[in-house]
Amino acid sequence: RRLLGTAGAVGAAGLVVGGGAGAAVAVGTRDEPTALTTVGSAHVPFEGAHQAGIVEPAQACGHLAAFDLKAGADRKAAAALLRRWSDAVRGMTAAGRPTTPAAYDDQVADDAGPSSLTVTFGFGRSFFTRTGLTAKLPTALAPLPDFPADQLDAKRSNGDLWVQVGADDALVAFHALRVLQKAAAGSATVRWQMNGFNRTPGATDRPRTARNLMGQIDGTNNPKPSDADFDKRIFVPASGSPDWMAGGSYAVVRRIRMLLDTWDHLSVAEQERVVGRRKSDGAPLSGGVETTPVQLDKINPDRSLAIAGDAHIRLAAPASNSGAAMLRRAFSYHDGIGTDGTPDAGLLFVAWQADPMTGFVPVQRKLDGADGLSRFLRHEASGLFAVPGGAGKGEYVGQRLLE
Ligand code: HEM
Repeated sequence: RRLLGTAGAVGAAGLVVGGGAGAAVAVGTRDEPTALTTVGSAHVPFEGAHQAGIVEPAQACGHLAAFDLKAGADRKAAAALLRRWSDAVRGMTAAGRPTTPAAYDDQVADDAGPSSLTVTFGFGRSFFTRTGLTAKLPTALAPLPDFPADQLDAKRSNGDLWVQVGADDALVAFHALRVLQKAAAGSATVRWQMNGFNRTPGATDRPRTARNLMGQIDGTNNPKPSDADFDKRIFVPASGSPDWMAGGSYAVVRRIRMLLDTWDHLSVAEQERVVGRRKSDGAPLSGGVETTPVQLDKINPDRSLAIAGDAHIRLAAPASNSGAAMLRRAFSYHDGIGTDGTPDAGLLFVAWQADPMTGFVPVQRKLDGADGLSRFLRHEASGLFAVPGGAGKGEYVGQRLLE
């Protein structure tokens, strides 16, 4: 039989996810080995004020996908799809023994626990025209401005519906996406799909901020759920507009290619100057340890700025952007070696905020071309999605928009 632990796993953001009431107890007897880890049994509830997959630490495996409604699929068809998707995800994320609707089950995730599976759903701007819901289109879903340095591929950008899948097991993550794709048949088809990864829980001696594919510790100065203004910055308030977005958030998705061969030509000291933090431990170049507040005005003995004028953390900081802030929750990606012999690798950057105009947009305007790091990056795809609040008991995601 399956063995599931009951102990919770503490993620990098300090959130506790546990086996939950339905989890079976692992008993270590001679013929029943104790489960090796609690990774499989860790469970993130599907229902709640906010959708899952925003504040929880990013999982080891991620899939981002956009779907376009098929010609003729109207508001009713979209509502039925969101109902099928939500019911499937409710089962697949259940504590203890997850379930999959029989019609879509491929048994790929058999034998595994929910493994912190989260599935997050969003609506792109085109969804509202397709379904005749333009009266409910949020102002915050205005198209992102053109950033001069962008090199975007339209086919891998935007889309009517967006799905973010995350799990700490690759089979569980694949299974969830495959089930969603099968459940969409007849109503929507995949427009684009991207696969990402992060460090596996348990791979480090203690919970640590993850590293990206440039080797930097990435995520240190993210807003924290314990910050007094966290909810205000990340989520649409209950009194917000439109009312169906209460408890929701806006996701900016960017596929950012890292020009790793060029980057690797820099010495470690040069790489640190570009970001403004030490590579080894993430400490700011203004001194201290990883968590020490950055001193942007600190001057070195030779009268140079400790954090360079074009350093990434200087230009991206809320202090340089009238307080603009977002929650960055990214996956790394590696899609093999390109025809030019360099890795097609980088960041599936997902930024969460209550309004992109007070989050991503002003910061990217500042970074674009001017940021020392931007010489080593290429923004290749982009999307902006309205992610409604979480479903209540028996509800489906987006019900307040679609019913
Ligand atoms: C900070 C890397 C793109 C916004 C950082 C840090 C690193 C980093 C290493 C310092 C540690 C931390 O506080 O997390 C990267 C890489 C990128 C990228 C490799 C692209 C592949 C972006 C983009 C934005 C952004 C596109 C927003 C438009 C920020 C912000 C901070 C930050 C707001 C925190 C600044 C502070 O308050 O100290 N990034 N970043 N980053 N980054 Fe990025």
